[in-house]
Amino acid sequence: MPVNIAVYFALVVFLLFAFISFWPVFTGANWEPTPMKKVKRMLDMARVTKRDYVYDLGFGDGRILFAALGRAAKAGGSEIEPIKWLAVKIYATIKKTKLDLRLGSAYSADLRKATVVAMFMTPLVNKIIAEKLSKLKKGTRIVSYHWPFPQWKPVRVDTQARIYVYETGKL
Ligand SMILES: C[S@@+](CC[C@H](N)C(=O)[O-])C[C@H]1O[C@@H](n2cnc3c(N)ncnc32)[C@H](O)[C@@H]1O
Repeated sequence: MPVNIAVYFALVVFLLFAFISFWPVFTGANWEPTPMKKVKRMLDMARVTKRDYVYDLGFGDGRILFAALGRAAKAGGSEIEPIKWLAVKIYATIKKTKLDLRLGSAYSADLRKATVVAMFMTPLVNKIIAEKLSKLKKGTRIVSYHWPFPQWKPVRVDTQARIYVYETGKL
């Protein structure tokens, strides 16, 4: 029954895609894009300049990185969901941008060159990753949308926009 085979195949492909898209829920946070107005505000509040390397932990559709490109020297990030990673990689190649896009977990990301770390994750991820971030080179800004790091003292806050900026050496 070729029709049945085609239906089963379509179902399997659909379930596979659904699973891949959904599994970041278990690794950190599901995809929910930061509104563009707040992306701009995050970059303003982190005081991103041409000397910065902006790194987004879980870059989603890459909006923070594309927005950062006009202001920073370099931008990159890691994303655990392979379909999103590939889509952003293809788009970045078409647009001839020099984004450093890694497929992998935020927990194992190499952040040594980052001067600004952007993130929109969950309270649990923030708790787990706090120690790693606190060891980044002095003066690195960590800008978190939606969820603060309650154990740290922010250098700048926009409570209404839910944007929190921290700086290593002043945590
Ligand atoms: C709430 S979205 C934020 C996306 C983007 N940073 C933004 O602000 O628009 C969280 C993103 O993190 C990704 N993610 C979840 N767990 C992750 C992990 N352990 N490592 C890297 N990325 C992860 C998700 O796939 C999703 O794209």
